[in-house]
Amino acid sequence: MLMACSPPKMALGSPSFRRSASGMPRIRMFARPVPVSVGPMLRELKKECDTPVPVLRRVAEAMAADMRAGLAVDGGSDLKMILSYVHSLPTGDEKGLFYALDLGGTNFRVLRVQLGGKDDRVIATEFEQVTIPQELMFGTSEELFDFIALKLTNFAANEGGKFHLSSGRMREIGFTFSFPVRQTSIDSGILIKWTKGFAVSGTAGKDVVACLNEAMVRRGLDMRVSALVNDTVGTLAGARYWDDDVMVAVILGTGTNACYVERTDAIPKLNGHAPSSGTTIINTEWGAFSTGLPLTEFDRDMDAASINPGEQIYEKTISGMYLGEIVRRVLVKMSKDGELFGRQSPEKLHTPFTLRTPDLCKMQNDSSSDLLAVGAVLYDVAGIESEVGAREVVVDICDTIARRGGRLAGAGIVGILQKMEEDSSGLIFGKRTVVAMDGGLYENYTQYRDYLHEAVADLLGPELCRNVVIEHSKDGSGIGAALLAASNSKYDHDF
Ligand code: BGC
Repeated sequence: MLMACSPPKMALGSPSFRRSASGMPRIRMFARPVPVSVGPMLRELKKECDTPVPVLRRVAEAMAADMRAGLAVDGGSDLKMILSYVHSLPTGDEKGLFYALDLGGTNFRVLRVQLGGKDDRVIATEFEQVTIPQELMFGTSEELFDFIALKLTNFAANEGGKFHLSSGRMREIGFTFSFPVRQTSIDSGILIKWTKGFAVSGTAGKDVVACLNEAMVRRGLDMRVSALVNDTVGTLAGARYWDDDVMVAVILGTGTNACYVERTDAIPKLNGHAPSSGTTIINTEWGAFSTGLPLTEFDRDMDAASINPGEQIYEKTISGMYLGEIVRRVLVKMSKDGELFGRQSPEKLHTPFTLRTPDLCKMQNDSSSDLLAVGAVLYDVAGIESEVGAREVVVDICDTIARRGGRLAGAGIVGILQKMEEDSSGLIFGKRTVVAMDGGLYENYTQYRDYLHEAVADLLGPELCRNVVIEHSKDGSGIGAALLAASNSKYDHDF
């Protein structure tokens, strides 16, 4: 990992890539120094993206303050602090066949699970993943939900084996919908706005469960949504099924968000309508957080060019959809103003979102002395022929952006833990507390994950850190949604 600014180098004899007719890279040798002007630009970038402990502490404190403001009154802060209507989490007693549908990114998943109660737990699961055609992300609401209902119908038609629906029951489904929704009950909610690049017309302002139900009716599919949940809430429920100490769930994938268990007496906006359980799950929608973040011209330009300018600023700084794009913007500037890649004018690099976060991850994991994988990514993504000095700079930029993102995500987690601890001393730091994490960014980008853990440790210190377990809960949200469908079933519980 390159932490310091790499001095410009004369990279005599370093290889660059050209594809042969067979598509295999052919090594070509040439010499080109990394221009001196890139050094100051890189130093400036690092300075602007720096996240020393005082900055992280301010972010954590602002997160906690924004949480309180959002709990006081709707619209009280950037953080919507959405009431999930999930007042109790799975106990392990749940039994029967339940479905889940997980819509939150470019793929959606359908899943069925046969639950066997305390003794047998999860008897069987089956799932299918479907890629949403690009045009549906920009189409109409009906087109999107018809497509989902079709895939769901096909999936349900293959039920068999270990899966049994109790007689006289309709199939019930937990619907994980990972966009900001103003929840109106456990099985209804109004889409506030799309995020993560979705721009489907006609859904915002509508009940997404009604949209799905109508599409299921059009398809003749006999299924009922019994729980509508955010993916963070699904993850929390799924993780809690196995571990009673889970109090917070965080998604770091294409988008980002967090939810946690809140005491109802700490939610003034409930106006006395508190459930008897005394606790409820709050979906923070922390992607909209924006206070005190160290931002650069690249972030501001990306935001201005986005389909939701001025919104989801924290998400745009720390989540998987955007890290690659930020780096691309830095590279465009450095190749134009600093001749990072010599005289080449890498046209393909000018296309937004051509460089993706998995590319950054691949480049940062390149341990070859000539950074061959970095060279290959630059060539494949943008047709850039690079020499080793430039590749080192590119890795350094990736590291700078991933480091800022991971550390700011860690500060957000600490903000939530601190808020919970301040309200109930000993609730978090006085015992083992688990933060369930999921999402491709957290799972696959090792350096990002390490930076996140490092920031949590920096902020909490070794003593408090001992009780906080940050745990990967892989794909927990699907099972979690099915479990919540079970606990909110319209039928008498046989558990
Ligand atoms: C959405 C959240 C979601 C998160 C992670 C964000 O863009 O607004 O509702 O939980 O992505 O999928």
